[in-house]
Amino acid sequence: MATTITTTLDPGVLHYMLVILLLSLQGSPAGARDVITATQPLSGLQKLVSQGGKFALGFYRPGGGLQDKWYIAIWYNKVQKVTPVWIANRETPISDPFSSVLTISTNGNLALLNKNSRSIVWSSNTTSTTAGASNTTIVAVLLNTGNLVLAYASNTSIMTWQSFNHPTDTQLPGMRFGRRNKLTGESDRLVSWRDHMDPSPGIFSDEMDTSVGAQFVLRWNNSRPYFTSGKFNPQTGAFAGIPSMTVMSRPNSIYSYEYVDNDKEEYFLLTVMDDSIFLRTVIDPSGQLKGMVWLEEKQDWMVYFVEPSDVCSVYSACGAFSWCAVDNVPVCSCLRGFTPQSQAEWSSGNYTGGCTRKVALPCSLSTPSMSSRYEEDRFYEINNVSLPDGPQATVQAANISDCEVACLNKCSCLAYSYNGTCSLWYSDLMNLQADLDNTGNNSIFIRLPASEIPRPKSTRGQTKGVAIAVSALALGVLCLVAVLCVLRRRRSRIKGLYNNINMTLMAFRYKDLQLITKNFSDKLGTGSFGSVFKGVLQDGTTVAIKKLEGVRQGEKQFRAEISTIGNIHHVNLIQLLGFCSEGEHRLLVYEYMPHGSLDGCLFKVISSDDVLPWNTRYQIAIGIAKGLTYLHEKCRDCIIHCDIKPQNILLDASFVPKVSDFGLAKLLGRDFSRVMTTMRGTIGYLAPEWISGMAITAKSDVFSYGMMLLEIISQKRNVELGKPCMDKFFPILVLEKIQEGDVRALLDAADMRRDDVNLEELERACMVACWCIQEHESSRPTMEEVVQMLEGLRQVDMPPVPRYLRVVAESATDQSSTLLDEMAAA
Ligand SMILES: *[C@@H]1O[C@H](CO)[C@@H](O)[C@H](O)[C@H]1NC(C)=O
Ligand SMILES: *[C@@H]1O[C@H](CO)[C@@H](O)[C@H](O)[C@H]1NC(C)=O
Ligand SMILES: *[C@@H]1O[C@H](CO)[C@@H](O)[C@H](O)[C@H]1NC(C)=O
Ligand SMILES: *[C@@H]1O[C@H](CO)[C@@H](O)[C@H](O)[C@H]1NC(C)=O
Ligand SMILES: *[C@@H]1O[C@H](CO)[C@@H](O)[C@H](O)[C@H]1NC(C)=O
Ligand SMILES: *[C@@H]1O[C@H](CO)[C@@H](O)[C@H](O)[C@H]1NC(C)=O
Ligand SMILES: *[C@@H]1O[C@H](CO)[C@@H](O)[C@H](O)[C@H]1NC(C)=O
Ligand SMILES: *[C@@H]1O[C@H](CO)[C@@H](O)[C@H](O)[C@H]1NC(C)=O
Ligand SMILES: *[C@@H]1O[C@H](CO)[C@@H](O)[C@H](O)[C@H]1NC(C)=O
Repeated sequence: MATTITTTLDPGVLHYMLVILLLSLQGSPAGARDVITATQPLSGLQKLVSQGGKFALGFYRPGGGLQDKWYIAIWYNKVQKVTPVWIANRETPISDPFSSVLTISTNGNLALLNKNSRSIVWSSNTTSTTAGASNTTIVAVLLNTGNLVLAYASNTSIMTWQSFNHPTDTQLPGMRFGRRNKLTGESDRLVSWRDHMDPSPGIFSDEMDTSVGAQFVLRWNNSRPYFTSGKFNPQTGAFAGIPSMTVMSRPNSIYSYEYVDNDKEEYFLLTVMDDSIFLRTVIDPSGQLKGMVWLEEKQDWMVYFVEPSDVCSVYSACGAFSWCAVDNVPVCSCLRGFTPQSQAEWSSGNYTGGCTRKVALPCSLSTPSMSSRYEEDRFYEINNVSLPDGPQATVQAANISDCEVACLNKCSCLAYSYNGTCSLWYSDLMNLQADLDNTGNNSIFIRLPASEIPRPKSTRGQTKGVAIAVSALALGVLCLVAVLCVLRRRRSRIKGLYNNINMTLMAFRYKDLQLITKNFSDKLGTGSFGSVFKGVLQDGTTVAIKKLEGVRQGEKQFRAEISTIGNIHHVNLIQLLGFCSEGEHRLLVYEYMPHGSLDGCLFKVISSDDVLPWNTRYQIAIGIAKGLTYLHEKCRDCIIHCDIKPQNILLDASFVPKVSDFGLAKLLGRDFSRVMTTMRGTIGYLAPEWISGMAITAKSDVFSYGMMLLEIISQKRNVELGKPCMDKFFPILVLEKIQEGDVRALLDAADMRRDDVNLEELERACMVACWCIQEHESSRPTMEEVVQMLEGLRQVDMPPVPRYLRVVAESATDQSSTLLDEMAAA
């Protein structure tokens, strides 16, 4: 079984090396061996291949080799997408595989050595006591189960060590997982990678729940449990808490679980019915446990269960002082008065650092008298909340006001909650999120410096109230309107954000809006339905005011339409705050989006610092899809947007996308010819049915979304001023490259930063986009399916090339007008 591989490579010839590396990762060279002995160590680009060819072991670089960090890993030999299942030196990467060697000492210790410094980088810590005798030579063998074992050369079924007893983050079929020694309490633990690029131990782990038995538990920081599988049921062969597993593990299923409990040990054993099935269970860096199976025909892993299915259930998913909401994009947001600890980490999708105060509590800076504390700190309420991790104290309090005072009197008290018992929190608030069923009926009050909450509570602080009243009188009617508006906005920001309580729309007078916008002097842009102006309410709140053109509806009908739009609340849809309908004037007042439109952020980037990172773009794509899903499916009446394009996507301060201009096509009555005229400028996004005259459905929005998604990917327009922007019409290029299985090629084509892009997401996004731009609406996915695919919760098949694109592809020098004709003809 052992044929020596000698390497004739000159390590200096990097290019050559890379070619060989690629080759070596792809196929198993003839005569690959599966064993390491003292005289046949492993170094450089050599690898072991198990007998049967399923697994390989060798030096591996995560993340497509962007960093010179190499690990000894076991991966699937036949799966093109290199998928490591075990890492030896996860904490101690090496920088050069050629100066390292994996070998076995005469006393049976498997070790990774640095040849230059002659130091041990990693070792199995095994020594055989009877070393020396001729029949006690130990060898390392890679088995076809993915298990690397140390065993006697004379009889390899007598093992001294096995990688299955030292798993990384993956449970493979055939691996016993549980409590291996009831006496010593020794048990197995899967520990997540830190992130997808870094296999060093992350903060999440999976192990047998020894306190209960027959179930496993996911923990944060090796302590705090956040998910338990529920008891294993031998009848169904599944865990009570993982319903999707039950479906999969019926008789004739591809795998089964077995639970073994005896005097010595207690473990789960996962078995696949057929050796050709590649199945694995992984604790992901996100803290979720995922069951995955390789689909050969799709050339991808399919997730068949993910627990907890809701990322907000992962302990501390968003860090301290944050709010986790699964239907938000991003999932994590800082509480009011708080800002990300590290903006850079936060925007790259690492929320673990959590949030920190914008303004420190005055009492923490000095030691003011008690009375000044009253003045300086206030609380705001978040209701229907699932309370953060255990309160640090409960105190006697007759009523909620007493509870508040108790918290106020201690500078270290950060929040309180009252349900008859007064609970106080002294340390970082973790895991704050909506109590969706409102089972607890809990409210929590968060402490902030008074400067962060100028509004007095109705029960106290009459002086502030008087001050506001006086200033309101002084400033006249407009200010009253503004204050009302602010109060309403504040309330809606707290309640609206956390509770989605409907709010009523403000009716503005034209005169007031003139004042607010300095007589419409600060124009933000011109959209399909009119120009947009910036305005500042009396309290400093910035709003965007759209002057509608061409609305022919009467006031009553207008108000009816507006109230429909105003009642639509979704984090990815722009919020209408108010309106004005006076005589000829029809205006809409929206929340202001500091980052403007996606159009500007994608195509009008001035400095390279302003380029949206991949992660942000991907989250934007998901957010838009969620907003559209809501419009299409969750509103009372399905709303087709009809004009999806980057100009109509706005970005808030944290780059959360908000779809704008929805519902307005209806305002203009059934005058679709006008809609058509206004959309002539946005030809690249129009579905073929717009031109062919077929019925317009929600799937027309899906088409436009697909075209826009390609632009979000490439950060370039698909079509610019009548000619394709890149050498090749990008949608065609994408289709070609994904069919060739070469998404990497797109990086260069679109001039993307390699280190920034997640190739898996890139591929997924490209495939989704290609499905969206299918010619026939029935082939296109729904927006909800798009969300699931982008989030990796639904598999994406290989999309076919739509006929109209094939036509376009064949005629090389296209003008968008001919493209249009061909789309119409197709
Ligand atoms: C071997 O022992 C060292 C030192 O005690 C320890 O850090 C390392 O994790 C051990 N390796 C394995 C594979 O158990
Ligand atoms: C090695 O040989 C000795 C004596 O022949 C025997 O007792 C022992 O069990 C053998 N060990 C192994 C691992 O085969
Ligand atoms: C190898 O060891 C196993 C377990 O001790 C034993 O059952 C088997 O007979 C041995 N095989 C040989 C060839 O000695
Ligand atoms: C994890 O737990 C250890 C002690 O068990 C503690 O020192 C450390 O601060 C914890 N990590 C975090 C991020 O809280
Ligand atoms: C994420 O942020 C935390 C806290 O700031 C940091 O310790 C950790 O290394 C970061 N993780 C990654 C993968 O960058
Ligand atoms: C709360 O209870 C205190 C006495 O414990 C009382 O003085 C105060 O008036 C009560 N406040 C309210 C709002 O009931
Ligand atoms: C009130 O809150 C405390 C602490 O969160 C909890 O232990 C207690 O069960 C709650 N009481 C009621 C009546 O809900
Ligand atoms: C929820 O709490 C509020 C105020 O604390 C109370 O008025 C209401 O009756 C409670 N509702 C339920 C269902 O317990
Ligand atoms: C919050 O809880 C209250 C009281 O149970 C309930 O009336 C209200 O509908 C809840 N709000 C939301 C958004 O669930």
